[in-house]
Amino acid sequence: MEVRKVQLKDYTTLAVGGPAELWIVENEDDLLRATEAPYRVLGNGSNLLVSDAGVPERVIKLGGRFLEGELSGWVGAGSLLPLWVQTAAKEGLSGLEPLLGIPASVGGAVRMNAGTRFGEIKDALAEVEVFHQGELRRLPPEALGLGYRKSELPPGAIVTRVRFDLKRRPAAEIAERMARVDAARKRQPKRKSAGCAFKNPPGDAAGRLIDQAGFKGIRVGRAMVSPEHANFVVNLGGATAREVWSLVRRIQEELGLELEWEIWGTFEP
Ligand code: FAD
Ligand code: EPU
Repeated sequence: MEVRKVQLKDYTTLAVGGPAELWIVENEDDLLRATEAPYRVLGNGSNLLVSDAGVPERVIKLGGRFLEGELSGWVGAGSLLPLWVQTAAKEGLSGLEPLLGIPASVGGAVRMNAGTRFGEIKDALAEVEVFHQGELRRLPPEALGLGYRKSELPPGAIVTRVRFDLKRRPAAEIAERMARVDAARKRQPKRKSAGCAFKNPPGDAAGRLIDQAGFKGIRVGRAMVSPEHANFVVNLGGATAREVWSLVRRIQEELGLELEWEIWGTFEP
């Protein structure tokens, strides 16, 4: 097991976040040791806003055996979802197409029930292995309370492996589904972000509401509401967490939307 002092801005897609101790676990024994003191779990850092002051807890990242796997069996939760979306398409296996373009780790995707309007990861899972209170358990996906961008995993539970439920389909059909998902993502910005900042309220779209309220292109320091898609806050390069937070709070105060991101560390109210 490797333990390093890092800046979390190097481990988040928004590229903000201060210091932490990163514990890269390779196997079950490492997990037992790493979880002996307060900890958080980092996936691919694509749904996180981390404070400039960092976090005092250990930050556990899945490495080693948790990166391995194959589609016909168990897949390590530290591996990247886009890899499996592409592999499944190549092998003529259908089920992961709705997840095209989501830069998650497999574990983070389960924890957030990542998805698009075409489907969520919950519909593509056969079984999930979870490390909790020192033990590994294999659970049916129904036991995880997966809903719109949420799960009800107990605090501290770590998704370690999953088994996907995929169906053999003609390659052309899979390609066509992926093209539809890709098209729906066209207006999403290419700049550094953490995906949509807010959840869509029932029957509406946060992006539409933020756009209508005139927030597009508004900046605080180096953080900006994307002119392309109003539910994305982008880092123009060198933004601080404080700048991002202040922008997000302004939108939240005006529109009362529910944050989709996970917030790590403390921020001023
Ligand atoms: P992280 O951001 O690292 O962590 C998120 C949460 O999951 C944290 O609470 C963390 O502790 C927990 N976690 C991480 N790994 C584990 C684990 N192994 N076990 C238990 N808990 C864990 N999301 C969508 O749903 N749909 C989209 O279309 C979408 N598009 C995006 C586009 C872009 C450009 C970006 C940057 C993000 C997008 N997102 C989207 C958001 C993000 O990719 C998802 O929320 C994703 O599920 C987060 O996964 P992660 O591995 O990066 O998790
Ligand atoms: N819209 C605007 N202005 C904008 C952005 C959007 O008016 O600046 C309008 C669009 O015209 C459309 C509606 O809002 O009528 C919805 O926009 P879009 O089709 O882009 O989808 P979304 O609801 O904003 C959702 C997910 C995305 C996912 C896409 C594709 C949420 C919060 N967002 O976006 O997920 O990629 O659908 O299916 O559920 C994420 O969760 O991080 C994420 C990126």
